[in-house]
Amino acid sequence: MDNGLLMQEAIKARTKAYTPYSHFGVGAALLDSEGHVHHGCNIENAAYTPGNCAERTAMFSAIAGGQKPRSFKAMAIVGDTEGPIAPCGVCRQVMYELCEPDMKVILGNLKGDLLETTVAELLPWAFGPSDLNNVKK
Ligand code: THU
Repeated sequence: MDNGLLMQEAIKARTKAYTPYSHFGVGAALLDSEGHVHHGCNIENAAYTPGNCAERTAMFSAIAGGQKPRSFKAMAIVGDTEGPIAPCGVCRQVMYELCEPDMKVILGNLKGDLLETTVAELLPWAFGPSDLNNVKK
């Protein structure tokens, strides 16, 4: 699936956003190893902090649906931003845990701007699973 098609899926996912507080909808589309696409949207909450971003919704939904962590091929993310959307730091950390560092991430906006990057580029000097290897058990 090419970048444009996966971005179209992210735009569809964005229509499902629940954003009564920010009114800022975000969509994410996560491509799995079998070619299936998992949608994510942001889901907000009156208490604010329990809200979840589109990217994490997509990853958690795919894993809850039976996909293996780090088996994903690409993620597209879209918001109504001036340039390609920048994922938040928490989502970058979760991507680093649940996706391979070289997984493709396509950032976009509703005007059609696209930027292709990777999980590792989005989170340099990441703290990840291997950093816990020296813990005495
Ligand atoms: N948001 C996302 O879902 N993904 C991003 O990449 C940036 C921010 C959400 C969180 C909140 O619901 C709204 O956008 C405004 O920050």
